[in-house]
Amino acid sequence: MKFYIATDHAGYAVKEFTKNYVRELGHEIVDLGPESAERVDYPDFAKKCAEAVVADEGSFGILICGTGIGISIAANKVAGIRAALCHDAYTASATRAHNDANILCFGERVVGKGVIESMIDAFCNTEFEGGRHSSRVAKIEGCSLGANL
Ligand code: RB5
Repeated sequence: MKFYIATDHAGYAVKEFTKNYVRELGHEIVDLGPESAERVDYPDFAKKCAEAVVADEGSFGILICGTGIGISIAANKVAGIRAALCHDAYTASATRAHNDANILCFGERVVGKGVIESMIDAFCNTEFEGGRHSSRVAKIEGCSLGANL
């Protein structure tokens, strides 16, 4: 799998750890910043990562801020993105299976390193189930285009 990763200053401390773990699993990961723990605005990095994922078909993203909330809200403004704020292996697996999530988001202030590893394992090892979930995922795209559902 190919991942793009970005954080804000509040997610920066676990960025290297997360990149190393993804690489240990044999996946590719491209770092879109930031390059220091200096204060930045999470929507800027959410946008960078979300646009990279949309432009590179079949790729995935990882976004980290303090809570995971702001960065996931911002990423979901980009059409084609299904960014899921996860807290454990169950939510990381369920969002791949049911929502076909293409960006895994979490909060550095919320989860520890063991949970980060288990979420990445679950996200990478779970396929979208399709079936009844496909039309629901299609409706998500309708929402971002402002369609009447
Ligand atoms: C930064 O202090 C913090 O607000 C941000 O990382 C994030 O948690 C926002 O949702």
